Amino acid sequence: MILVTGGAGFIGSNFVLDWLAVQDEPVLNLDKLTYAGNLENLAALQGDARHVFVQGDIGDPALVRTLLAKHEPRAVLNFAAESHVDRSIHAPGTFIDTNVVGTFRLLDEVRAYWSELPPAQKEAFRFLHVSTDEVYGSLAPADPAFGEQNRYEPNSPYSASKAASDHMVRAYHHTYGLPVLTTNCSNNYGPFHFPEKLIPLVIVNALAGKPLPVYGDGQQIRDWLYVGDHCSAIRRVLEAGRVGETYNVGGWNEKPNLDIVRTICALLDELRPRADGRRYAEQVAFVKDRPGHDRRYAIDARKIERELGWKPAETFETGIRKTVQWYLAHADWVQRVQSGAYRDWIAQQYAAA
Ligand code: NAD
Ligand code: TYD
Repeated sequence: MILVTGGAGFIGSNFVLDWLAVQDEPVLNLDKLTYAGNLENLAALQGDARHVFVQGDIGDPALVRTLLAKHEPRAVLNFAAESHVDRSIHAPGTFIDTNVVGTFRLLDEVRAYWSELPPAQKEAFRFLHVSTDEVYGSLAPADPAFGEQNRYEPNSPYSASKAASDHMVRAYHHTYGLPVLTTNCSNNYGPFHFPEKLIPLVIVNALAGKPLPVYGDGQQIRDWLYVGDHCSAIRRVLEAGRVGETYNVGGWNEKPNLDIVRTICALLDELRPRADGRRYAEQVAFVKDRPGHDRRYAIDARKIERELGWKPAETFETGIRKTVQWYLAHADWVQRVQSGAYRDWIAQQYAAA
C-alpha cells in the first residue's frame, strides 16, 4: 500500500479518489483534519476497504512509527501542509510547525523505517514530496518560466516554509540516501477546493450575491492546472521519476487574476444567470492588496513532459467549466464547509478591506 498524508485536503482527496479509481493498491490516509481537512471529500470511499483513514499529525513520531510498522507502505506521498498564503501572513507559526517541523519529523521516521527494509523493498521505496512553484519567488513580465534549476527565492511565510521542507527532503536524499522525489506544481483548481482560495471563493461569493474580492489591480499572474492533471503527474513521477530529482508540474496556463474572475462570471452568467438579469461581473470589488504579493508565477514543465511523457488532459477552458459545474452541483458541500470555522476566517480576512 501507499501512505498519503493530507489526503482529506483539496489535492490529497482528489489524489486518493483518482488513485483508487485507476488501481486497487490500498491507501493509508494520515490527516490531522485541520480546518482544511474534510472527510466529506472522501464520502465516495465509505465502506471501501482499500482506503484506511487515520486522524493524526505528520509531526507525531510515535504515531507515524506505529503506522509504518503496521502497514509497511512501499511509498509515502506527503501532501500534508498548511497551504494558504493569506493565513501564513496572519499566523506563520502553524506553517513552521507543519510544513517545516512536521515534514522533518515525518522524514526522520520514514528514514528509520526505510533503513530497516529488506534490500529489494528498500530499493523500490519512494518518498514523494508535494511542493509548490511558489518556492521560486516572483517573475517579472518578460522572465522565462520557472525551471527546476531556478534558485529558491520564497517571499511569503507559506512559500518559505515549503522551501524549507523541500531542502530537508533534498538533504535526506543527499545525506542518508532516502529515495525521494519532489514535485513543484503551479496553482491548482477543481472539485473540493476550499473556498478561501481565489477560484472557489469567487464561485461561491458570486452565487451568494457577495462581492468578488480582487487584490490590488488584479493583474497578478498565476499558472493554473486542473487538480486531476496534478494527480496524474504525481502518479507518473512516483512510477517513473528519477530518484533525487525534482519535477516542475504545470499546464502552460498563465492568466491574470482579473481574467480568471471574469471567466468565472461569464460561465455563471451562462449556467446560472442572476435572477435580476444583471451580470455577475458587477460584483467584482477591488480590495487592498496582499502584503508582499508575488506578481507572477509560471512553470516550465518541459522536464516532466520530456522525461516522463506527462501531459495535462484538461485545457483551462474545459477545466474551469467542469469546476464551475461541480460547485453548482454541490451546494450542500459548500454550505457545510461554510458553516464551520471557515466563516470566522472570512470575517477576519475581509473586515478591513
Ligand atoms: P489543503 O490545505 O487543502 O489540505 C491540506 C491537508 O493537510 C488538510 O487535509 C489538512 O487537514 C492536512 N494537514 C495539515 N496539517 C497537517 C499535519 N500536521 N498532519 C497531517 N495532516 C495535516 O492543501 P492542498 O491545496 O490540498 O495542498 C496539498 C499540498 O500541495 C500542499 O503540500 C501544498 O503546499 C501543495 N500544493 C498546493 C497547490 C495548490 O494550488 N493548492 C499547488 C502546488 C502545491
Ligand atoms: P490563492 O488562490 O490564495 O493562491 P496563491 O496565493 O497561492 O497563488 O490566490 C491566487 C491569486 O488570487 C493570488 O494572486 C491572490 C489573488 N486573490 C485575490 O485577488 N482575491 C482573493 O480573495 C484571494 C483569496 C486571492
